[in-house]
Amino acid sequence: MRIERPKGTRDFLPDEMERRREIEKVMRQIAESYGYREISTPTFEHLELFTIKSGEGIVEEIYAFKDKGDRDLALRPELTAPVMRMFVNECSVMPRPLRFYYFSNCFRYENPQKGRYREFWQFGVELIGSGSYLADLEVILLAYRILKELGINFELNIGHVGLLRELLKDLSEERVRKIMRFIDKKDFESLERFLEENDLMDYYDDIKTLISMKGRKEVIENAREVLPDFDFGYIESVAMGLERLEVDFNLDFSIVRGLDYYTGVVFEIYAVEGLGAQNQICGGGSYRLTHLFGGGDVPSTGFAIGFDRVAEICSVKSEKAERIVVACTPGMELNALRIAENLREKGLVVYTDVMERGLKKQLSFANTVNARFAVIVAEREYEKGVVLVKDMESGEQREVPKSSILEYFGL
Ligand code: HAM
Repeated sequence: MRIERPKGTRDFLPDEMERRREIEKVMRQIAESYGYREISTPTFEHLELFTIKSGEGIVEEIYAFKDKGDRDLALRPELTAPVMRMFVNECSVMPRPLRFYYFSNCFRYENPQKGRYREFWQFGVELIGSGSYLADLEVILLAYRILKELGINFELNIGHVGLLRELLKDLSEERVRKIMRFIDKKDFESLERFLEENDLMDYYDDIKTLISMKGRKEVIENAREVLPDFDFGYIESVAMGLERLEVDFNLDFSIVRGLDYYTGVVFEIYAVEGLGAQNQICGGGSYRLTHLFGGGDVPSTGFAIGFDRVAEICSVKSEKAERIVVACTPGMELNALRIAENLREKGLVVYTDVMERGLKKQLSFANTVNARFAVIVAEREYEKGVVLVKDMESGEQREVPKSSILEYFGL
């Protein structure tokens, strides 16, 4: 019986895995150069961790299940809530700020399409313990540097959820959440219908004006006219900082993010080409969550890059290590293995035969794996103290004394 993989999941073959690891390496190196250190949390958590802020509605969007002990659990749909739970449980007395990064799989019960999967990977960071604009500046800069280094053509849009929250401050948390959801999904028809049905049309014009503001620092002046009492100092500092650091960005007050925990500056990064509808490759911002998990109120900020989407469009190639096949005539297998071991110890990628095939077939296998050289351990030559080294590109073959194979390969 043929068994297909579950909907929305993927298999990764070696070429693709090597390329993904290469991309991951770049991300790790840059995050580490800013002082971030890797953490890891469980693949599943108590369901409550994800519903506590967003409500039961979120259960529809995640893999939630009961275990044999009748506990409600969920596969993590993202890492921010788990990292904050870990912080409250394990790290709350550590000196702040804390800088963590993760590269982990996440699970969402989505309708799969190009760039949207049910299992996908996020590379993310959380900077915990600072409420300064400098923290936002750092994480935005870090996301920007990673994507630049990977050669991606992207657009960075920065907003502030405080603006809409200020505008809607007299409405219930539930209504604010609904309105933000419509804006996040750019579903303006449903937004209008919701406002109409709930007798909230007085808000319509101001909401529309705010979320259509997009541009450089000048949009702050326009937004001030809508919200004269709002303190724009913070977002202004972030914008000024980014300009000084020569980071290319737009302010866009329609950026409100789909997750409910954000409190301040939020940002989204879109790929300019190659992804179609699912072109958001990074999302983040500052948020407060720890108080919900039994900790104090700890301001934090972070982002997650959609690793699969970045891998799809990024041109990084995997570096193929040079491969060598040590082939042999019958009876010479263990001698071949000893030579292979010596070469492997020096860091080369070495294949030996495990199929008990003849020499000819072993050499054709060397072509299959794109080996640069084949070392041929043939009984007659071996007795004379030599092996043959065949250059698989030129076909040239020469005798090399057994004792100087390492030197021959410059090792
Ligand atoms: P998010 O925007 O929900 O934010 O996810 C971050 C990124 O993950 C998205 O921008 C997208 O590239 C990728 N992504 C999301 N869903 C899928 C999917 N179904 N298939 C493939 N890629 C997907 C967060 O998760 C926040 N925790 C980010 C954050 C960290 N905020 C503060 N700290």
